[in-house]
Amino acid sequence: MDDEVLSTYPTEAFLSKEYLEAEKKLLWPRVWQMVERETDLPNPGDWMTYNVADESIIVLRKDDGSLKAFHNVCPHRGRQLVSVPDMLPGKVHDVRGNNRKNFICGFHGWTFDLDGQNTYILDPQDWDNKLTPEMTCLSEVKVDTWAGYIYINMDPDCVPLKEWMGRAGEILGAYELDKMRYKWRQWAIYDCNWKTAIEAFLEPYHVAGTHTQLLAYGDYYALSKQYGLHSVSSYDTRDDKFKMNESAGTTRAGKGDDPRVSTYELIRENYETVNYSASTESLVKAASRLKDELPEGVSPQECIAYWLKIAKEADAERGVIWPEIPDDVMAETGLAWGLFPNQNILHGVTFALCYRVRPYGDDPDKCIFESYALERFPEGEEPETEWVYADPTGDNWGSVLAQDFSNMQFVQKGMKSSGFRGPLPNPHQEQKVINLHRNLANFMEGRGAPTRLDIE
Ligand code: FES
Ligand SMILES: [Fe+2]
Repeated sequence: MDDEVLSTYPTEAFLSKEYLEAEKKLLWPRVWQMVERETDLPNPGDWMTYNVADESIIVLRKDDGSLKAFHNVCPHRGRQLVSVPDMLPGKVHDVRGNNRKNFICGFHGWTFDLDGQNTYILDPQDWDNKLTPEMTCLSEVKVDTWAGYIYINMDPDCVPLKEWMGRAGEILGAYELDKMRYKWRQWAIYDCNWKTAIEAFLEPYHVAGTHTQLLAYGDYYALSKQYGLHSVSSYDTRDDKFKMNESAGTTRAGKGDDPRVSTYELIRENYETVNYSASTESLVKAASRLKDELPEGVSPQECIAYWLKIAKEADAERGVIWPEIPDDVMAETGLAWGLFPNQNILHGVTFALCYRVRPYGDDPDKCIFESYALERFPEGEEPETEWVYADPTGDNWGSVLAQDFSNMQFVQKGMKSSGFRGPLPNPHQEQKVINLHRNLANFMEGRGAPTRLDIE
């Protein structure tokens, strides 16, 4: 599944207008896509639009608590049922509302109930009463939930969401993301293709070159693996003697002679420079106690085990109960998952740092970039958040994410150079990138498929 073969792929998926156009037919209408967190539509009558490329979908909660989704288009003459302006910095992220009993088209007043059935047509006799419910209802879209997210799929013949998620869904499922809530959520319109943007967050191979300051606190050698549609990256070590199970994912010892100190320094630096995400206050506080509470000479393994124990206890005291992660999940859990095609989740037991990207307009050089932090809060202490437009600066996003942003548009520009011979992705550390292109090609009639590098 994840043969580490030397491969390359063409750049048309990033640069070609015509490829972007083809995504509208071949990709977006055929993949499960995350719409929003379920908690954003808690009550009957709550609704919102999800918009991607030329498609707009209305997702709503019905009286019985179930979700429904429809294409946002009136079957009469094709007006958008709900007017959705283009996303606009500081103004429009999506269109949403509450207490809906029906949808009335603003053009000629045709009306639809929350099941999408037509309930009113002006002058139906003019059609000789020949219009059938099938002709006048809204076009339904598949909707399902996973891990506290709402997903839609426009393809009536799609595989079920559970099957789509596969093993990745089982592994992340153990982390009970459904019990986490938004800590913050931000978006920006960015000057690169949506794939250039998501790929900036798919692999830790860039840490040494991009986030140089982090090398003072930890090593960032990574491996990555394909899981069918999805893929995972994970810390690895160049040297077997440093291998340790406790170093999995985001909770690991820092680099340095005294793990009591380095663990704290690593986690604090990450937390503070990644916009107070990718960890929690509890974990940082618990790490700050290690120096006082553990004897000198303690091993990194013991240090991590003690750190997690006291963080878990401190969380329990404030009503945040950690899920038990089964051993088989722990063995495969990794650091961060890329969920095909456009979603990224860096997960921990009590937090997640996540990304989503979408194309913006018909410009292959632009995308809508979103990032958000989830956290497990004590009941009643979840913060109120909404989507905030935030220019991609360090002040808005933290210095680490700003460093990632500083590459993206220049990758987009660089790939256009006539001197660029094509990508040379790292077969060990950048499998997630290769896998994205492999899977994209499967949807895109083979276009952009990775090929083996011909080297003897
Ligand atoms: S287009 Fe909707 S009622 Fe005419
Ligand atoms: Fe980064």
